Amino acid sequence: MKLVLDVWRQAGPQHTGRLERHTVDGILPYDSLLDVLDRLNCALVARGERPVAFESDCREGICGACGVVVNGLAHGGGQRRTTCELRASHFADGAQLTIEPFRARAFPVLRDLIVDRSALDRIIASGGYVSVRTGNAPEANALPVAKASAERALDAAACIGCGACVAACPNASAALFVGAKVTHLALLPQGSPERAQRAQGLVAAADREGFGACTSYGECHAACPKGIELGVITRLNAELLKTGQRS
Ligand code: SF4
Ligand code: FES
Repeated sequence: MKLVLDVWRQAGPQHTGRLERHTVDGILPYDSLLDVLDRLNCALVARGERPVAFESDCREGICGACGVVVNGLAHGGGQRRTTCELRASHFADGAQLTIEPFRARAFPVLRDLIVDRSALDRIIASGGYVSVRTGNAPEANALPVAKASAERALDAAACIGCGACVAACPNASAALFVGAKVTHLALLPQGSPERAQRAQGLVAAADREGFGACTSYGECHAACPKGIELGVITRLNAELLKTGQRS
């Protein structure tokens, strides 16, 4: 099958970007969008042209590196799917796709489809971990965790830090990402002692990094490849309210 790609090309952070049209032929229906970009890059290199820069690692929905905007939707807008899981067969033969980097002030474009998402790492470095002394691993039944809490914590821990929630949000808010980290740790005994300072630290870091405020659009949940629930933002606000703040 064939796809017509309008791909964002930008040589560097200080350069002006533009869409560049390429037609890619010989695509197999099971090719992922990244495979399609690989095919395009092979053709560009064969012609002596600069390949399109994009990020990937696992190519199976785990690492969160590959996110781009396809036809205006983060990760292509599929249900619980990263860009590397988006198949060519999702589109009609001959379809035109516009492929752009994630757009957010906190995610500056480095080159073509690659953005700098290190702001998310700096949010985590501001308290998204457990530093209390937990001693040796306790006997498994010594510290029971309610099943519902364990499941909600693990659901929140599914966040892969891809940044699609930020890209999809009209405010470029990182509230879903922050809420997932706060919820994951607040619901477990090891994370409970630092829950208040963690919530404050992560929200303050998100503000410093230039992410916007949450005004409950809900686009973040729709774009999230791991289906992180909006309830994590409610929990984030609950944690902050205990400290007299709000996200
Ligand atoms: S909350 Fe979802 S969309 Fe946001 S970074 Fe985590 S996995 Fe990606
Ligand atoms: S390359 Fe790892 S999630 Fe897509």
